[in-house]
Amino acid sequence: MTTASNERMKEVSPAIEYAPAPESRAIVSIRERYQLFINGSFVEPQEGKYFSTINPATEEPLSEVALATEIDVDLAVMAARRAFDEVWSRMPGRERAKYIFRIARIIQERARELAVLESLDNGKPIRESRDVDVPLAAAYFFYYAGWADKLEYVGPGPVPRPIGVAGQVIPWNFPLLMAAWKLAPALAAGNTCVLKPAETTPLSALLLADIIQQAELPPGVVNIVTGAGETGAALVAHPGVGKVAFTGSTEVGKRIQRTLAGSGRRLTLELGGKAANIVFDDAPINQAVEGIVNGIYFNQGHVCCAGSRLLVQESIAEEIVERLRRRMASLRLGDPLDKNTDIGAINSAGQLEKIHRLSKTGEAEGAVAWSSGCMLPERGYWFPPTVFTKVEPAHTIAREEIFGPVLSVMTFRTPAEAVQRANNTVYGLSAGVWTEKGSRILWMAERLRAGVVWANTYNRFDPASPFGGFKESGFGREGGRHGLESYLDR
Ligand code: NAI
Ligand code: MG
Repeated sequence: MTTASNERMKEVSPAIEYAPAPESRAIVSIRERYQLFINGSFVEPQEGKYFSTINPATEEPLSEVALATEIDVDLAVMAARRAFDEVWSRMPGRERAKYIFRIARIIQERARELAVLESLDNGKPIRESRDVDVPLAAAYFFYYAGWADKLEYVGPGPVPRPIGVAGQVIPWNFPLLMAAWKLAPALAAGNTCVLKPAETTPLSALLLADIIQQAELPPGVVNIVTGAGETGAALVAHPGVGKVAFTGSTEVGKRIQRTLAGSGRRLTLELGGKAANIVFDDAPINQAVEGIVNGIYFNQGHVCCAGSRLLVQESIAEEIVERLRRRMASLRLGDPLDKNTDIGAINSAGQLEKIHRLSKTGEAEGAVAWSSGCMLPERGYWFPPTVFTKVEPAHTIAREEIFGPVLSVMTFRTPAEAVQRANNTVYGLSAGVWTEKGSRILWMAERLRAGVVWANTYNRFDPASPFGGFKESGFGREGGRHGLESYLDR
């Protein structure tokens, strides 16, 4: 063994071995085929086409899902319009609230089913789908149910009115939670919805369709059309859609903006990010290391607000990186359904390819990669948690969103330099600040061009708190009172 590898052995403590503890799949029955959810029923797509969705941890096909074309999207928008005109917009807020509360309660009742299905279709660890995605999805429905009869308090001015039909396109990183973020405020405000889930993770939205039937929502109030980019494009281009809400890539967001330009139709975009997690020399080190790990390795880094740039004050940089490596070496990668798994599968072959490409670029440009060397399963899409040091602000990996478990470490000397480096990005979704000093937290938060600034924590969500970006991270806010505004007309 060389000295270098000896050094490395000393540096990392081996992962503790646990017996496998897989969550049972038996709780969820996945249908062989899923149709479109239009006007309260599951219906055959007009052209009869289907596509398959797979489990990214095994590459095994899970189900066939209907491919909605323009005709289906049109049927869904018409159903939503009828439901808006005849039922939903006329219903008193307190009555709408009951339906939304019912959805929240059924999500709680069927939480295990939803969590297992989410982990199967997305690849995220069951611990995350069970403890984060599903409870938060219920929390957003509960929160917005409470607003449905209080819309006159959303802001100043006359009593607001709903817009009409909302067309909502969501990504694959938090499939159920993003559906909740979109549907709950729209419904509370009195709009009806056509939702398009991502093509690699449609199953939890289709289970939500089941829940919506169970909650006896009037037909057409929520419609779910499955398909890929063309289906999404047909939905956002439909003139019957009065408000478009999109979460996904900056590239598609820009395209949607062009489609809607001059149409008078409303739009909110939640796009990419390249968040800085900023650690000062007086930070609580152990908490900070946990926060860094949670910020970038959580959900395989498939998080728009991931803390993908670590900015550390120079005097503690070495210590932080060493402790981080030690912690990374104890992360367990593998079966998403195993309750001890920290790191699950990358959602798709395409996303894995993007992470490999950007990591190679990082090395080619002179940054140095380190990963704990954990064993990767043979089948499925996997990428080990990786940290890059010797990163320069001009490097591609310091600028581009990787959307994978890859962290770029840079240093700073003064608070002003930390702000300057943190803001040196086309994005502005989120940031983290780690320091003992409350005054410094406020000083930083005032200067960081980011929609969310976490202090001594990271990746915390609350339905009452608005979330959204600056610059190329998009515009509009989701969550809280602000999240209702884009679904209301004055
Ligand atoms: P994407 O933007 O293509 O997909 C997001 C959603 O938009 C999906 O439902 C997709 O079917 C739909 N879509 C695709 N083209 C469309 C179009 N022309 N009109 C309307 N809808 C359309 O994102 P993709 O390809 O899955 O991921 C690419 C990169 O985007 C990721 O590597 C990541 O960097 C970023 N991303 C950011 C997310 C965020 O939360 N802000 C979520 C997902 C991806
Ligand atoms: Mg899938």
